[in-house]
Amino acid sequence: MPDFKLLFVCLGNICRSPAAEGVMSHLVKEAGLQGRIHIDSAGTAGWHTGKHADERMRKAAISRGLDLTSLARQVMPQDLTEFDLVLVMDEQNLRDIRAINPQGVNQQKVRLFCEFCTEHDEKEVPDPYYGGEQGFEQVLDLLEDGCAGVLREIQTRLV
Ligand code: 4NP
Repeated sequence: MPDFKLLFVCLGNICRSPAAEGVMSHLVKEAGLQGRIHIDSAGTAGWHTGKHADERMRKAAISRGLDLTSLARQVMPQDLTEFDLVLVMDEQNLRDIRAINPQGVNQQKVRLFCEFCTEHDEKEVPDPYYGGEQGFEQVLDLLEDGCAGVLREIQTRLV
């Protein structure tokens, strides 16, 4: 049983959140905490359910030593019970999660990922899907920064 369960959420679960899962898994392994922290990702939309991460995202990740292996799934209301922290990539993700959780139960677990960045001022991780290669690099830069902050936060919560 892990001590802490972390879920990353974006729109399609094929670009930003699977990359966040890959970056975070790498940091957690490096810290020797892989048995204690469970990491998953999901999308607010179900369009890509069962698919691997977008080829462009996988390619950008591979060049940083990260193999993205997760398969897409849609976020479910139970995720807010199951997970300790749910990190969303943008404001629209936040609104979409509120919509499937109208009572607001456990809504305090849902936070914007960029709150954890210390080297970037962006408030959201921009959706790279319709853009060029540079967008995927920018996503990884933000994810590497924020995930380091997320790990520090989780370490303070692990006893
Ligand atoms: P993601 O990117 O939310 O970072 O996975 C997207 C993936 C797919 C689509 C939009 C954004 N789409 O429109 O299919």
